[in-house]
Amino acid sequence: MSEATPKAREHWSGSLGFVLAAAGSAIGLGNIWKFPYITGENGGGAFVLVYLLCIAVIGLPVMICEIAIGRRTQRNPVGAFHELSPATSLLAHGIGLAVLLTGASLLLFRVWGWGAVLIAVGLLIFRFGWTLVGFMGVVAGFTILSFYSVVAGWTLGYILEAVTGRLNFTEVAQAKEFFGGFITNPAWAIGCHIAFMLMCIAIVAGGVKKGIERWSKILMPLLLLLLVALIIRALTLPGSTAGVRFYLRPDFSRITAQSVLIALGHAFFSLSLGMGAMITYGSYLSREQNLLSSSFSIVVLDTVIALMAGLAIFPAVFAYGFGPDAGPGLVFQVLPTVFHRMPLGVLWAAIFFLLLLVAALTSAISLLEVVTAYFIDERKWPRSRATWVMGGLITLLGVLCAISVADWSRLEFLHRALVWAFGGVKDSFFDVMDHISSNWLLPLGGFFISLFVGWIWGVKHAVDEIRHGSQNFADVHLISLLAGLKDDPSHNANPHVLTLASLWGIFIRFISPTAVLIAFLHTIGWLDFKPKPPAPPPAASVESAVENP
Ligand code: PFF
Repeated sequence: MSEATPKAREHWSGSLGFVLAAAGSAIGLGNIWKFPYITGENGGGAFVLVYLLCIAVIGLPVMICEIAIGRRTQRNPVGAFHELSPATSLLAHGIGLAVLLTGASLLLFRVWGWGAVLIAVGLLIFRFGWTLVGFMGVVAGFTILSFYSVVAGWTLGYILEAVTGRLNFTEVAQAKEFFGGFITNPAWAIGCHIAFMLMCIAIVAGGVKKGIERWSKILMPLLLLLLVALIIRALTLPGSTAGVRFYLRPDFSRITAQSVLIALGHAFFSLSLGMGAMITYGSYLSREQNLLSSSFSIVVLDTVIALMAGLAIFPAVFAYGFGPDAGPGLVFQVLPTVFHRMPLGVLWAAIFFLLLLVAALTSAISLLEVVTAYFIDERKWPRSRATWVMGGLITLLGVLCAISVADWSRLEFLHRALVWAFGGVKDSFFDVMDHISSNWLLPLGGFFISLFVGWIWGVKHAVDEIRHGSQNFADVHLISLLAGLKDDPSHNANPHVLTLASLWGIFIRFISPTAVLIAFLHTIGWLDFKPKPPAPPPAASVESAVENP
């Protein structure tokens, strides 16, 4: 490696430790809170199939990219991009120039806020080149954790509310009112958020093996156990089959370009891609381990847990006559009502929110680790200082999210400044943080990571890295592998064959960046695939039809 580090880098104790920690990062609120409700809103089974396709075609190849970058460089995302970037990159300069010129022209149109932001970003691209992609990851870790820990704090609060018997709603309307009161009560919201952040900081401060790996090995089996208990409960309720049917029977008429892009965006978030979390975790992996099979296991675990979460939720929701399309409130409003109607409801509610908390915790530690690793590697801070200082700052930003989930009334000054600079802003500070990270930083990160591996670092170098510990990847004919003939040398000698590596290279160079770019342009509203509602008849003709039937 290019720079001598004073202490040897810590590594996972083995593949299992790595897979559980990385799966812990991937499996989070995205799987148990978001996946079921977007599936409910987008038509059930058919959406699940589209999601699986996105995971296989885009998610897995990009996951392999990130882990390969991390393992090759043994550095945090900023250091990793710095090490692999060429001294000058025409592509980076071209992008920088385009951003700079766009910013300057916005200023001409008096769009001050966006103009200034784009000019600053353009200059940063000139100064840092591809390393900026790593910085984006660190910033994303910061912003995502600030709102993620607030939602995680609610789950902690809901465990307490469940065991003290206060989630006793007979109607969803009551649950809705309670939830509204709960999240806008600053003492509760801030208290739970801080408690959650303290758990996170304590684990990350323990280090890679003694903190992250040890806790992942405890928490992930616990998560599985809780989930299985909930599934058994849900499936044995009378009337649960309607939920299973909704969830698993595809209705392709519900699939639109819109839902495909939602599935793609969610695949990224769910696999923790696009912000260097997997680069960071990959940097603690030693070269003997099989990167390919580990990536595969992480993706499969994440997907299986998301699917299982749906099986724990929909059968129960249908069994008590509720609809699946309640949106984000499904988990905090519909489910507590469902649990209250069940025998031993307090227990099931507590189990469910504990499950959510465990899932959130293993994801949150990976977000904090990205930020921490940067300060340890690049600024040479000791781990405990990096964790406590950065964890503390994220907690403060999270406090702003926690007190502004509903509206801007508590941050009026900031609101006025943002409106002055950018015109309109999102509904709340919480939404702004979510919007910046999920809609901008992650998709752009994913796009640039594939572009970087496919065209700058080069597929050849990446394949050389992945091949360590996994000969199947580049040396074995894909057809021979599928046919079970991989040990027959005559099937592997021909260089003009399709190997896993060549297939992966094509995906990384062309398919992933294109798909991610389309999804990004759609989320920021530059591409609109929404089916247009049929135009209403002109007012005059309606009136005349009424007057002259
Ligand atoms: N994958 C997590 C989830 O599904 O909840 C969220 C997440 C964690 C995103 C870590 C990004 C990340 F780096």
